[in-house]
Formats: sequence, C-alpha cells, structure tokens
Amino acid sequence: MTKTANIDWDNLGFDYIKTDLRYISTWKDGKWDEGKLVEDNNLTISEASTALHYGQQCFEGLKAYRRKDGKIQLFRPDQNSKRLNRSCNRLLMPEIPEDKFIDACIQVVKANSEYVPPYGTGGTLYLRPFIIGTGDNIGVKPAPEYIFCVFCVPVGPYFKGGVTPVNFLVSDYDRAAPFGTGAAKVGGNYAASLYPHKVASEEGFADCIYLDPMTHTKIEEVGSANFFGITKDNKFVTPKSPSILASITRISLMNIASMYLGMEVEERDVYIDKLDEFKEAGACGTAAVITPIGGIKYKDNLHVFYSETEVGPVTKKLYDTLCGIQFGDVEAPEGWIV
Ligand code: COI
Repeated sequence: MTKTANIDWDNLGFDYIKTDLRYISTWKDGKWDEGKLVEDNNLTISEASTALHYGQQCFEGLKAYRRKDGKIQLFRPDQNSKRLNRSCNRLLMPEIPEDKFIDACIQVVKANSEYVPPYGTGGTLYLRPFIIGTGDNIGVKPAPEYIFCVFCVPVGPYFKGGVTPVNFLVSDYDRAAPFGTGAAKVGGNYAASLYPHKVASEEGFADCIYLDPMTHTKIEEVGSANFFGITKDNKFVTPKSPSILASITRISLMNIASMYLGMEVEERDVYIDKLDEFKEAGACGTAAVITPIGGIKYKDNLHVFYSETEVGPVTKKLYDTLCGIQFGDVEAPEGWIV
C-alpha cells in the first residue's frame, strides 16, 4: 500500500495532512544556513522566541499543480518571494533571497511529489513557507535568530463547494489599521480575524467582509481573501487600500481580465452602499482560488449579486482561465509558471 492510498483525492478539504519532508533553514550571526529537508514536523524553539510573544513571524501560501501530462508546476513563486520579503521588512526580519525561496519550494514539491493530487481532481499541493523569530530574547526587539520553513499539504477547496456561491456578513470589527500591518502577511492579522469569523459563521455565513477601518464605508477584504466585482458594464473592479493583503491571485486576475477577456480593470474604492453597481462578485486568493459571492449581508439587508446558487458567467470565465493557466491547459503569460 502506498503512503497516499488513504487520501480521497476527489474530496480533499483544506485540512492538515502530514507529508514526508519539509525544508528548514536557520538564520544566525547575520546569515542563512544552507537549509535541509527534514522528516520531523515539530519545531523546537526557545520559550522566549519573539514569534511567540511579539508576533514576529510572517508566512506565504502558494500551490503546486499536477498537469495533464503528469508534470508538476508552481504558479508565480517569485511573487510570493517578493511579498514574503515585504512582510519581513515590515517586521524587521531578514529577507530570504528569491533563488533560495524558490529552490526551497521546488525541493519540498519534489520530495513530496506523491502528494500532488492527480490532474482532474481539482486538488493541489499547498505550500506554506513561513519565517519565525527565535532565540532567547525578552525585550520588544527583533529576534537574534530566525527559522525559515516550507511545508506542504494536499488540499481541495477552501470554502466548501469550491466554485459555488457563498454568502458573507459585513463585520463590525476591523482587520487591520491604516499604516498598520494589513498589507503584510503576518499571523496577527489572522489571529484578529478568528473572532469576527466565528460571529459570521454562527450566523450561517461563510466568512465576514471587512470594511475600511477609517470610515467603515468601503470594502477591504473578504475573510482571508480579496474582493472583486464585475460591474454592469463589464469592468473588473477590486478595492485599493494600503491595508489590503495584495493577493497574487488578485493581481493575476487583473491581468487575465484585461489580457484574456478584454475587460477594463479598475483598482479603486468599492462602497458597501453601492453594491448595485456589480452584476457579479467574488472572493479570490491562493486558498480560495475564486469563490463566487452569492450575497453580502450589511445591516439588515442581504444584497444578492448574480445568484445565491449559481456562478455568474464572467466569474466562471475568470475561474476557467485562471485554473487553465495554473494546471497547464491554457498558455500562461511569460514568467508565471515554474
Ligand atoms: C492563502 O490564500 O494562501 C491564504 O493565505 C489564506 C489562508 C490564510 C488560508
């Protein structure tokens, strides 16, 4: 029996499954070591690590895709590398050189290639690179040491049902302050989202929508994903704000909308009381891919876009083109595939 024989590839969720090997590199005395693959999925760190007390940590998410010909490809890992380094700069952590980051991802995929779901199941191998501040330290200051790790998990859709619409509730809570860490992929932003998510899910919603913290009038994020809307005159619109975590799926969809679907693209304010301008809307991100938004509940009103049960035609085209590129069925723009 093979190691993966018990995995039900057609019904994967977004849950942790231990895979064989993960990559670990440590930073000490001003430099990263060469790094290696290890079997142990536990980390032993100082009780005084800054990652534990002061949230000095950041992470990424990217996926490996099984193509029809059986080969495996990564989607835009250079963009994850750049974003990780932006997060590191924000938290005064050492950057990871781009070639080291991509090499670590490739090593992990190769070492766990049996866990890349078969083509046609819709499943992917999700890679989780992260950096944590470690070593002995008690004052509020950057750590003396760091660990960079990349592990992987086979996953299916983040929101149950994949490309079927779900509803979202506008939260009274804020995700991130302007000029805070909203644009960095740091754990603290996600810790702060746990309670608002619980409130939304207890009311039967998939997750919550965050508004801009200054005025509470504009959409910022959809849970841990970005928002996009398709206007009645067929423009692709996505919010602009310094506190949004710019998803790589979102920038890719902006390109796909204009280059593949010939749509006009706008990055601008999206007002919560002007949802009528959109015929379709969706949440996008590496984990969420594209999840159509059925409706958004704001105050006492549920605003339904295209349908609460069916994906709209433009969202479907965006989804098919994006997944086509990611799984190798549609020709990708130069440099997107490794
Ligand atoms: C991703 O889309 O990769 C994310 O980071 C979302 C997540 C925290 C599950």
